[in-house]
Amino acid sequence: MPKKDLIDIQDLSTEEIDDMIALAEEIIDDPARFQEVCAHRILGSLFYEPSTRTRLSFESAMLSLGGQVIGFSEAGASSVAKGESVADTARTVECFADIIAMRHPKEGAPFVAAQSVDIPVINAGDGGHNHPTQTLTDLLTIHREMGHLDKLVIGACGDLKFGRTVHSLIAAMSRYANVEFVLISPEELVIPEHVRTEILDRKGIPYREVRALEDVIGELDILYMTRVQRERFFNEADYIRLKDTYILTPERMAQAKPEMRVLHPLPRVNEISVKVDKDPRAAYFRQVKNGKFIRMALIMTLLGVNA
Ligand code: NCD
Repeated sequence: MPKKDLIDIQDLSTEEIDDMIALAEEIIDDPARFQEVCAHRILGSLFYEPSTRTRLSFESAMLSLGGQVIGFSEAGASSVAKGESVADTARTVECFADIIAMRHPKEGAPFVAAQSVDIPVINAGDGGHNHPTQTLTDLLTIHREMGHLDKLVIGACGDLKFGRTVHSLIAAMSRYANVEFVLISPEELVIPEHVRTEILDRKGIPYREVRALEDVIGELDILYMTRVQRERFFNEADYIRLKDTYILTPERMAQAKPEMRVLHPLPRVNEISVKVDKDPRAAYFRQVKNGKFIRMALIMTLLGVNA
């Protein structure tokens, strides 16, 4: 069997995604059954960009499966600082690990790593491009919160240009029936052309682009908030001008449906007031927890391990 990587959410069929969600839900219901399934397996965790949730959830996932973790969270502490290529670093880690999770500021770096090694490589976020494991986390969260992935009006709000999580989320959610998107962003941060033409237009998915959250919040089943991606701006003045365009407050939440759910990949900066956290519709910390379970399911799937 050829090895399988996860570079783009489109690498997975809808059936594979649904199976992974089902496996994550089995793990949530009975974690003890899975605590040794990856004994003696090693995850190489290669993070060239800052991360809290993604890195720690990958590491916690592997440890909770009985496996072990090696790697770096600061590229400056590895031979990358000496100018080593992504391909050579991946070939080195392949000598020590069974599976790699890689986050990198350059689009395509995890793909290059995957081409260079014979073990599975997982993209843990590449530049402004993709973030497939965040999307699996988001799908598991929507499934657990709403009970289904079809028939949903999904509002994505904030930095839709540089926010890689939104690009992968649209690609994944477009597969389910009767899903509709409301894309809420300032003019400067609209969704990239390739997402519009290659996913939304090509599949004929209904979507609207709007500027004001208050005009549409009452129609949404899911509100997916995002942070303005400061590190991907060329110009600090533009970041400062745009960073507080949207701030979700309890007053704004009062206009939303009682069953709407708020998701956010986190970290949050200002875009959700901490006063919203106690609203039962705020699902973003439950989403963090789901991230560990779906990564357990993903590691098991790519390693071909069963409980
Ligand atoms: C996101 C990311 O890194 O793209 N965070 C995450 O992985 N949970 C979102 C962000 O940084 O804004």
